[in-house]
Amino acid sequence: MVANDQDRENYRCRLDQGPAAVEPCTIVIFGASGDLTARKLVPALYHLLAERRMPNPFRIIGVARREKTDASWRDELKSALREYSRSGALEEKPWDDFAPNLFYCQGDLSDPALYQKLRRQLEGFGHAALRDNLLFYLAVAPSQFAAVVEGLSAAGLLNKGATRQPWQRVVVEKPFGHDLHSARQLNATLGRFVTEPQVFRIDHYLGKETVQNILMFRFSNSIFEPLWNRQLVDHVQITVSEKLGVGARGGFYEETGALRDIAQNHLLQVLALVAMEPPVTLEAESIRNEKVKLLKSIRPITPAEAARQVVRGQYFAGQVEGQPVAGYRQEPKVHPQSNVETYVAMKLLIDNWRWSGVPFYLRSGKRLPLSASEVRVQFRPTPNVLFAAQCGPQMDVNAITLRLQPNEGISLRFNGKVPGASLEVRPVRMHFSYNTEFGAYTPEAYERLLLEAMEGDATLFIRSDEVETAWSIVDPIREGWGTKPISNREFYAAGTWGPVAAEDLLAAGGHAWRDPHPVS
Ligand code: BG6
Repeated sequence: MVANDQDRENYRCRLDQGPAAVEPCTIVIFGASGDLTARKLVPALYHLLAERRMPNPFRIIGVARREKTDASWRDELKSALREYSRSGALEEKPWDDFAPNLFYCQGDLSDPALYQKLRRQLEGFGHAALRDNLLFYLAVAPSQFAAVVEGLSAAGLLNKGATRQPWQRVVVEKPFGHDLHSARQLNATLGRFVTEPQVFRIDHYLGKETVQNILMFRFSNSIFEPLWNRQLVDHVQITVSEKLGVGARGGFYEETGALRDIAQNHLLQVLALVAMEPPVTLEAESIRNEKVKLLKSIRPITPAEAARQVVRGQYFAGQVEGQPVAGYRQEPKVHPQSNVETYVAMKLLIDNWRWSGVPFYLRSGKRLPLSASEVRVQFRPTPNVLFAAQCGPQMDVNAITLRLQPNEGISLRFNGKVPGASLEVRPVRMHFSYNTEFGAYTPEAYERLLLEAMEGDATLFIRSDEVETAWSIVDPIREGWGTKPISNREFYAAGTWGPVAAEDLLAAGGHAWRDPHPVS
């Protein structure tokens, strides 16, 4: 039967089996007193419950060193939810359903007694699935991962190979190590206690709707994919910009810097999705195989080349939205002569058939004029005849921009005639906006990720070889920077689009950064 227009409009093709029934389980959060738990994890679990996506029954146990009771932890989380819930409010009914499932377990992560206590607590729930189906969330420093998995394993709470009925899984927050060597060590440590399918390495960018849409956009449309290659693409820009400074995270940031904090994970993950080949199926392993293949085809940057292909930067005092803000070196817990980068920009080349010769420019920075993440695919100019011959390089090239956040959507930029008797050309845009099309439904990335981890679907998580490959790309860059002090061309005023050196990086290839626009 031929579909009519109305049918086509309303058509939706469901590729999964619908919301999977998640088996009853207990989520154990290590690092329960931390920022991540209050800001992201507990609000995500609360919203999942409000939307009836949590298993029935379920329990959440928070583990940390500080003395607290179940009641005081619940009170703390209640106030946190008022501040961080994505709906901007705490509704009494879902909270009343949620709160009785929250429990606190105090102890030292290196103390075997903690894990015995945890075991007794789990047994006390009196339900086999709540005792045996366990999602361990490691929201603690990587240096503590080993102690936790070892403690759990010794207490019989984490069994190697337990992937289904009952299952035990470990969710690991980023950063996964601080270089290739430490990441390998971590993988080896985890590998002693669990199998790879039990490990869920988080990169919260993969939980964003717009990031998941990259594959859908590329591989469910016949009009874009034929353009997506070296024949038509001039270069690609991937930007993750943030208005905020490092704030209270100075201590963490001094150890991390933008290269490790954003480039090694979020930027490279987005790049992999934008540039990878179509996977054989939509299964987790097929998709991850293609991502790894792509990361492996990135031309390695040697330490000597880092100076030419990678720029770092650091903000000094400036103004953001008209308000004076401190420089990085004046932030709490930051060394007054710190050389840590708050900005990184790099040019990567992908040595494969599709992308040979096409530069991919990646950048991320703190204290930039606005918070926005986007991918801009810039197409080659038209032949130098007709309009282009007369307008020269002033005539804009075509571009597709995937706005990952905020103002989520996709824009296509092309040239059009300005109406009137004169012959004038100027760029015009077509916009697809998530809010207009789907309404303001923007679940937090952590909701999706926690749900997938409970369901045991690893598609949105990073595999061990993927995390190692990503480190092998960024490690030589850090080595190339060595202990060299940040130069004048690498400092930038807070509230500007980064250091002059980053402009030079693109100018060397005849390109220029196209900055994200403020939300209209
Ligand atoms: C985190 C980084 O992974 O991502 C933070 O550690 C950064 O430094 C954050 O602020 C950005 O995430 P988002 O979702 O706000 O773009």
